[in-house]
This record gives sequence, structure tokens and C-alpha cells, in this order.
Amino acid sequence: MMNFAVLASGRGSNLQAIIKAIEAGKIKAYLKAVVSDKKDAHALEYARKAGIPAVFINPRDFPDRESFDKGLIERLHEFKVDFVVLAGYMRLVSGFFLRQYPHKVLNIHPSLLPAFKGTHAIKDAFDYGVKVTGPTVHFVNEDMDAGPIILQEVVRVDPQDTLGSLEERIHQAEHRIYPQAIDLFARGKLKIEGRKVTIL
Ligand code: GRF
Repeated sequence: MMNFAVLASGRGSNLQAIIKAIEAGKIKAYLKAVVSDKKDAHALEYARKAGIPAVFINPRDFPDRESFDKGLIERLHEFKVDFVVLAGYMRLVSGFFLRQYPHKVLNIHPSLLPAFKGTHAIKDAFDYGVKVTGPTVHFVNEDMDAGPIILQEVVRVDPQDTLGSLEERIHQAEHRIYPQAIDLFARGKLKIEGRKVTIL
């Protein structure tokens, strides 16, 4: 089975869903470490509770993004990580990092890409008045929110939705498709050709 790490900066609800899926045997891979650039990220607490090594790397200890990523890669090598899962990780990963893990970094974004890239995707889609939205799991490349798409789930916007109720349903959908995508990747079931990802 493959080894992976989760990088997270915040709330950690996707991390929790991933841990639950592993415990239920729905992701056939080992989560070796959870790494955060935020000392008090909830994600680190969840990891500790689940008995998974929780690592804080302080960006202030590094002069720039690439040297931070070099430090990060050293830690990931210690854990013999085969692939990397970003779950609410609020830093852009460098080209240097991606070359260490080519086509081996996954991310989840809370809109149907390529619509509504960026950090306020749910609000942007809601304010725009879309009738459908939903999360996207994709491979990470050097452009933000732009790598080949693995899975998406459609979430309808109801007339009575508030931003909060829509957010909640999008997060529920995230917690379904992210574990599923991670398991497909870990079992070698994803074939990438250019922008197209096929589930084998
Ligand atoms: C999710 O909405 C994800 O799509 C985005 O950041 C959020 C992370 O939430 N990339 P959480 O920390 O997993 O709860």
C-alpha cells in the first residue's frame, strides 16, 4: 500500500473525513503524517487524536517559498511519503515541490472548476447566482486550481439557500468525493493523459 501525507492549514474537516474513511477501510493507503504551516491548526489536533504524527513547519524559519518547500520535502521523505493530499492548505506549492511529486499532489476546491477559482469560491458562486455548484478534486499543477480534474460532485443551489446552508452541503460533498479520489489514486486506478483523467 502507498504512503501519503495530508497538508492542512485550518479547520481540518476533510482530514477528519479522510481519517474516518481509512478507519472504515475505504482508503487503502497509509496516512503517515499531517503537516501544517499553522501551529494551532485544528487539523494537527485531529491527527494527534488519531495517533498520526502531526508536524508543524514554521514558514518564518525559511526565507522564501522554495526553501520552505525544501524543508517540507525533507520531512515528507522521512515519512517515506509516495503522494501528497492538500486539504485546506493555504499556501501555493512551488514548482520545485511539484517536480518532487509529479502528478502525485491532489487538492480539493469547493467549486466546479474551472469556475470560481481562488479562496472565496463558495461565496463567489453563491453571489453570482449559479444554480449548480459543488467540489472538485484535481491534480495540482503550477497554476492555481487548474490541474487535471479527478472527480466533481454537483450540488444544487436551492432558492431558500443561505451562504451557510450551501457551504454545509458543499463540505458534505467534499467529504464524500475526496476519500473516494484518494482511494482511486492509491490503488493505481487513475490514468492521466494531458488534461484528461480516466478512472480505470
Ligand atoms: C475546503 O472547502 C476545501 O475545498 C478548500 O479548503 C476547505 C478546507 O476545509 N480547499 P477543511 O479544513 O478541510 O475543513
